[in-house]
Amino acid sequence: MSSAHQSLFREIYQVPGLYDQLLLPHYFDGVEDTELIGQLMERHYGRPGDAPGLSVAELGCGTGRVTASLAPYARHLRATDYSQSMVDTFKARYPKAEALQQETKFSVRRMLDEGLAGSFDVVGAFWSLSYPLMDYFEALGADGIVPRADLAQGRREAGGLVRDALRLLAPGGHLLALFFDSETPEQQLVTRAWEKVAPFPGTGRGYTREILLEELQDAEARGEGRLHFSRLGGIAVAPNPEAARAWFAIVHMKSLSVLMDDPHVHREISAFVDAHTQPSGEVFIPTGAYVIDFWAGPADRHLPRNRAEAA
Ligand SMILES: C[S@@+](CC[C@H](N)C(=O)[O-])C[C@H]1O[C@@H](n2cnc3c(N)ncnc32)[C@H](O)[C@@H]1O
Repeated sequence: MSSAHQSLFREIYQVPGLYDQLLLPHYFDGVEDTELIGQLMERHYGRPGDAPGLSVAELGCGTGRVTASLAPYARHLRATDYSQSMVDTFKARYPKAEALQQETKFSVRRMLDEGLAGSFDVVGAFWSLSYPLMDYFEALGADGIVPRADLAQGRREAGGLVRDALRLLAPGGHLLALFFDSETPEQQLVTRAWEKVAPFPGTGRGYTREILLEELQDAEARGEGRLHFSRLGGIAVAPNPEAARAWFAIVHMKSLSVLMDDPHVHREISAFVDAHTQPSGEVFIPTGAYVIDFWAGPADRHLPRNRAEAA
């Protein structure tokens, strides 16, 4: 947030190297977010190499950080992200993967059109689904936010994206997602800032997560699988207050000029960072993650093993 910095809207996803440079590690009970997914993979599939290679799709893959927990299991890995710079970094890291610059909603539709319904053992989306879901309700650009006219239609279409993503799953496959908790003090600060630009649609900042969970619960009610999710508290660790301020400005507020120029926003961020600065100089930002896991398959999964074998 220094005045010398010439901000570019959404530079965090466009400028090569910036995302990995500014992203703060998030720890939950001693492990990073990547490992939360690694633990789920191990629970479902054993250690890499124990199971035959999986077919994996990742939406909003970024630089491939969380992919590191999926790739050792993958026979085929298809990853998409709307940012060309992210995809280029991803390709360099995973040269054998099929990495494509595509918006998530287009990417899901494209896979269905290619006849890939029912073919993925794992579909992952880590910290990346809120954007395409929010796109059904508003257009976000360098000049601000333009709400879409028909919010009910947006809700239907957002639900359609989740249902289409589920159609990609093979029998027994998993949709795995990480979603931020909008109720933490960190995210409430971010919400207050963005609400200066425009109100959030529906129930507010947590709306996209609620849509995802509602759609997954509906799928469970239709007998298409079972939903498990948990909310974990943790901390994001900034090495110093400057890094914490950049985290808010460039990662959370996407360098949007109307927010970068707002002294009240600067004051709120500074007060928050000061309040969470440790004697070591590090900043511990309380955070929360939803770990979401939808398993696709019939309801007899729930029967005790002896009943399932007799059936
Ligand atoms: C917070 S980053 C997460 C990246 C990666 N999954 C990780 O955990 O490090 C969000 C990612 O979503 C991508 N993204 C944002 N909106 C998108 C959209 N509509 N379609 C596809 N990707 C999108 C961004 O380019 C960025 O790489």
